[in-house]
Amino acid sequence: MPLGTSASHSKSGRTTSKTRSASKTEAKQQDAIALLMADHDEVEALFKQFQQAKKNGGDKADIVEQICKALTVHAEIEEEIFYPAARGALADKDEDDLIDEAEVEHASIKSLVEQLQDTDPNDELFDAKVKVLCEYVNHHVKEEEDEIFPKIKKTDLDLAELGVELRECKQELMEEV
Ligand SMILES: [Fe+2]
Ligand SMILES: [Fe+2]
Repeated sequence: MPLGTSASHSKSGRTTSKTRSASKTEAKQQDAIALLMADHDEVEALFKQFQQAKKNGGDKADIVEQICKALTVHAEIEEEIFYPAARGALADKDEDDLIDEAEVEHASIKSLVEQLQDTDPNDELFDAKVKVLCEYVNHHVKEEEDEIFPKIKKTDLDLAELGVELRECKQELMEEV
């Protein structure tokens, strides 16, 4: 069946190349909210790694360093790019208040990050500081994902374009921090 074979081969070839190019496009076009949520997941995974390291005697300091860097960069791209865009898109005063609260929460998170960066991993308060930081971050992430992001999705903000800006800023900051 030369025809069948040829058609099947050609179909399979098309599918493969289509799949490959679709996943490439998807990676390139991760929108603003998808990018920020991926950051949230990454930090959550790092906090879990810290719990494991505590149990197994792993390198807690290295994990905390990664947590601090990820949170610093994430807070910066939200404050510089995402929150101002959100304020512009959310007309309602109550919605604007949500961004005010998010910025206040960032200040608490950043203060604890700075404290942790100055704390020796053998200090008796080191683990407690990581735990409280994790609680602050969980609370803040929940507010963003449950309250702010759904409201933003209903606006006409160009999330794809904003995703490009966030990614570029993040890449620059990752090299600096
Ligand atoms: Fe966030
Ligand atoms: Fe945030």
